Amino acid sequence: MIRRFPKQAKAIVFDEFGAPGKVLKLGKYELNALDDYSLGLKLVCAPINPSDINQIQGVYPIRPHVPGAIAGNEGLLKVAHVGKALASSWKVNDRVIPKNACFGTWRDYAVAKPEQLLKIPEGVPDLEAATLSVNLCSAYRMLKDFDCEGAVIQNAANSGVGRAIIQLCKAFGRKSVNIVRARETKEATEELVCELKSLGADIIVVQDDVIKSDTRELLKHAVPEGITLALNCVGGHVAVNMARLLRDSATLVTYGAMSREPFNLPASLFIFKDIRLRGFWMARWKEEADKTPDGAKAYDDMINELCRLIKDGKLNAAPCEIITWPMEEEDAENVFFAALDKAQKASLGKKIVLSLQ
Ligand SMILES: NC(=O)c1ccc[n+]([C@@H]2O[C@H](COP(=O)([O-])OP(=O)(O)OC[C@H]3O[C@@H](n4cnc5c(N)ncnc54)[C@H](OP(=O)(O)O)[C@@H]3O)[C@@H](O)[C@H]2O)c1
Repeated sequence: MIRRFPKQAKAIVFDEFGAPGKVLKLGKYELNALDDYSLGLKLVCAPINPSDINQIQGVYPIRPHVPGAIAGNEGLLKVAHVGKALASSWKVNDRVIPKNACFGTWRDYAVAKPEQLLKIPEGVPDLEAATLSVNLCSAYRMLKDFDCEGAVIQNAANSGVGRAIIQLCKAFGRKSVNIVRARETKEATEELVCELKSLGADIIVVQDDVIKSDTRELLKHAVPEGITLALNCVGGHVAVNMARLLRDSATLVTYGAMSREPFNLPASLFIFKDIRLRGFWMARWKEEADKTPDGAKAYDDMINELCRLIKDGKLNAAPCEIITWPMEEEDAENVFFAALDKAQKASLGKKIVLSLQ
């Protein structure tokens, strides 16, 4: 097996931060030597997430070392070689995901130590495993860490994180109110509403209708106890309008800024309703968790519970378009850039996933 594991890998690399179309290229690089304590890995599939793009642009707080950074943070890899000293706990074809950001998943092969990896249990499908560590974990943490009982409202409810929030609310017995942008046609909007309802969404409101009095009336009847947690992926006026629907002393957690607009909340929401504003970033949560045994246990517990929900069919990955990446062929770079362009399109409705299989 060692003889067949390549010494070089192909990867999407960047030497400086900037526009992805300008700074990324498909390059070859030398893999670390395989030793008795390392695993040789082959990529199965890797998503293109909004934060991957921000990282390449240099506007994301976690910055890999450049020059020579390999892009991509999340993905599923398969063990192709097991170092001699690891033979009792690892085998060929075990599936793993990177434990931390900056692993560089947009590549064909990698060499890593077991402590950099998390083994995925059998029965968890490839796509769910490949998208577990960012979106599914973030949705889980926000529902567990800020207010773990009351009704939840969220914007960008059709996003990867949003769909996980809907399914986890259902699994945890919490009502969800879900804000989405209207599609180009009425039929397409209705189709999206049906799709989110089938995931377990209780109420769906089109973004432009949030401020309408009908929406307040609807919520008064559907959620008489009031909404205690708002999860904000968008910012701007969309976040402000969402905050106005909250119950007294509710918490609004910002985890994304898809509109790139800041938001100003009226003082009345603080004075008369005591609305609390918080933020969430999965990478920071993980960094803190790694510092203590309790934190490490909380991480393992979360992964185990998410895997159990996936295996029980209660949690699925967001719709994905799988793009086969022909690494051995000349157009491998063009295929990658076409996938990247697609991933950056608004209202695409699915996650772009690069697959080597
Ligand atoms: N803080 C954290 O730890 C953490 C973890 C995971 C993700 N995130 C962030 O969460 C966000 C979503 O990630 P994802 O992977 O779930 O994304 P995704 O699946 O690509 O979905 C993007 C979502 O954003 C919406 N959107 C885009 N531009 C918008 C605008 N101007 N106004 C309103 N909605 C807009 C899209 O709605 P349409 O379908 O209508 O275009 C879609 O619902 C990203 O910003 C990501 O970086 C943060």
